[in-house]
Amino acid sequence: MAERWTPKTWRNLPIQQVPAYPDAEALQAVEAQIASFPPLVFAGEARKLKASLARVAAGEAFLLQGGDCAESFDEHSADNIRDFFRVFLQMALVLTFAGGSPVVKVGRIAGQFAKPRSSPTETIDGLALPSYRGDIVNGIGFTDEERVPDPRRQLMAYRQSAATLNLLRAFATGGYANLDNAHRWMLGFVKDSPQSSRYQDVAGRMSDALRFMQAIGINPETHQEVRTTDFYTSHEALLLGYEEALTRVDSTSGDWYATSGHMLWIGDRTRQPDHAHVEYARGIRNPIGLKCGPSMSAEGLIGLIDQLNPENEAGRLSLICRFGADKVAENLPKLVRAVEREGRKVVWVCDPMHGNTISAGGYKTRPFERVMQEIEGFFGVHRAEGTVAGGIHLEMTGKDVTECTGGARALTAENLRDRYHTYCDPRLNAEQALEVAFLTAELIKRERAEIERPRLDAAE
Ligand code: PEP
Ligand code: CO
Repeated sequence: MAERWTPKTWRNLPIQQVPAYPDAEALQAVEAQIASFPPLVFAGEARKLKASLARVAAGEAFLLQGGDCAESFDEHSADNIRDFFRVFLQMALVLTFAGGSPVVKVGRIAGQFAKPRSSPTETIDGLALPSYRGDIVNGIGFTDEERVPDPRRQLMAYRQSAATLNLLRAFATGGYANLDNAHRWMLGFVKDSPQSSRYQDVAGRMSDALRFMQAIGINPETHQEVRTTDFYTSHEALLLGYEEALTRVDSTSGDWYATSGHMLWIGDRTRQPDHAHVEYARGIRNPIGLKCGPSMSAEGLIGLIDQLNPENEAGRLSLICRFGADKVAENLPKLVRAVEREGRKVVWVCDPMHGNTISAGGYKTRPFERVMQEIEGFFGVHRAEGTVAGGIHLEMTGKDVTECTGGARALTAENLRDRYHTYCDPRLNAEQALEVAFLTAELIKRERAEIERPRLDAAE
């Protein structure tokens, strides 16, 4: 691997999952244009997120990361962004209040457009076409024209990301996220659901606490923590030409930062240590994620940590584990032990989605109980090893879709056809996502109690 790093040294290495653009010149022209555009996020924000993730690594906060599997151009609307943001705020409130832990909020949004695929082609009724690789690359329609990679889509993705981020920033700081509004974050269709009264109960208790705080002089006017929230963006760093064009030197520190999003992750299919995606990620100073699936070995992981976090900086690297409900107990302990033995600082995150995809009634789905089983298994391993279960990484939406089975409403395989809208993998709907938050809050509470107990014993 090249020692000296620049935003384009990845181009000298083998690479997986590259779209076959028919016109190299058109691609270059688009990349040059994007390189002249303003950054979407700023280095100082990425550094602030890194500092928050360092607290997660130390067990002092919890990471909630989630959003669409793939954002789409067609579904870009203020309603969709608002509905996602408010269920996300509700989940964060539940985790903070019921779980008793500060929550670091990171959306899979404002840039989550490029998708790795298991197969380069898709065949329907004997016709084979290039696979859909996300709206930033080609179209989802099953026609020749749609499936040809078109570089101009990168311009659309950039502009959509900018508009989405603009709205998210307004929501996060312009009053919507004010804790005084927590009762109003309930979505219409969730109102009559089993999660509704639980949520209203949490929001009610929080309002009591806020009233008490106001009585002693802590209120939204004087304390911006009550009035605003920090919300960060993340996506898979897959389309490296696009990422390179948005990689900029931070004028304060002189370091390189990806400015397409605050946190970028390397997918499970593109984490070869001597390939392009790892090379790109090692040189940017943002917090980065690394997906760890069942094929990740302990030695392989330590080698990747050497490359990606050689200075052992806390908050730099999140290991996003996605083994499957039935594999987490077998696969995770060896990784946790190797990381502990080597004294590496990482954030352990559970992605309970990507190892639990099954097929039912002609649809890709994920059973809610498998999702929860993987989260429980993840917490169980960390409890046994004495390490910190740092966060969860979900595919979810604020909409009332029917893509994952189960949950409090017991969606069945027959229900899937009702509102199956995803562009890629099945997402938890708003109600299911909130349910995951409640159940995970219980697990955090238990974990924190166990961390506290030895301290209390020692004090006696
Ligand atoms: C994803 O997060 O959408 C994804 C493709 O995950 P993984 O790389 O873990 O399969
Ligand atoms: Co996915």
